[in-house]
Amino acid sequence: MNAQGNDAVLSSQSATAAGGDRFYFRQLLAGRDFAKRDPIARQMVNFVYLIGDRETGEAVAVDPAYAPDELIELLETDGMRLVGALATHYHADHVGGNLFGYEIAGVTALLEQVSVPIHVQRDESRWVERAAGVSRGDLVEHDADDVVGVGKVRIRLVHTPGHTPGSQCFLVEGRLVAGDTLFLNGCGRTDLPGSDPAAMYESLMRLARLPDDTVVYPGHLYSEDPFATLGETKRWNPVLAPRTAEQWLRAFGA
Ligand SMILES: [Fe+2]
Repeated sequence: MNAQGNDAVLSSQSATAAGGDRFYFRQLLAGRDFAKRDPIARQMVNFVYLIGDRETGEAVAVDPAYAPDELIELLETDGMRLVGALATHYHADHVGGNLFGYEIAGVTALLEQVSVPIHVQRDESRWVERAAGVSRGDLVEHDADDVVGVGKVRIRLVHTPGHTPGSQCFLVEGRLVAGDTLFLNGCGRTDLPGSDPAAMYESLMRLARLPDDTVVYPGHLYSEDPFATLGETKRWNPVLAPRTAEQWLRAFGA
């Protein structure tokens, strides 16, 4: 795998003019930074990301589960306004719904408070609809490499099937918000409904071709560090080590 891969589409450098102080980015741990008393949040250790443009005051929330009302308040405290949500994939700990018999609040609860588009990958929409109990009309379906603009910030959607059919990651300002596709020391499960181990291998190899200084922000706190550069991740993460699909599937294919 070529760390400096010349992949024109998958460049972590976005074409935004909103760099520097203008770029708003927060990584919040469910059960610690919000939803503090929710035992499921504390157990699941999901990250929610807030991404926006300080100058226009607009922001989107990535995977706003557990306590969407608190996320809206947090944004208000920062002088920001929620203008949309991005879903990495359909699982209840990311978009809300039923998880092991527990009801997790998510995009449906969010939409009761604010009317904003929920951006999903096209292949994920029916799954999100079913899992989160949201109506199709509230979802905006996207294709690979679509760009969602938040003020002058440009968020590129990277389709990374494998954990689920329409899993997607978000590239913004040299950061990769990776959902459950890539963790710092592993990757998302590939034995769940809609999973595809062979597709996961291809998705991981696409991500591995991003520049090494891209900072990976995972969907869960499964390692000591909350984020790391892709270069560091590639040194330690065993799921990025195999050189062929066969090797990968032998080691990690469910
Ligand atoms: Fe998941």
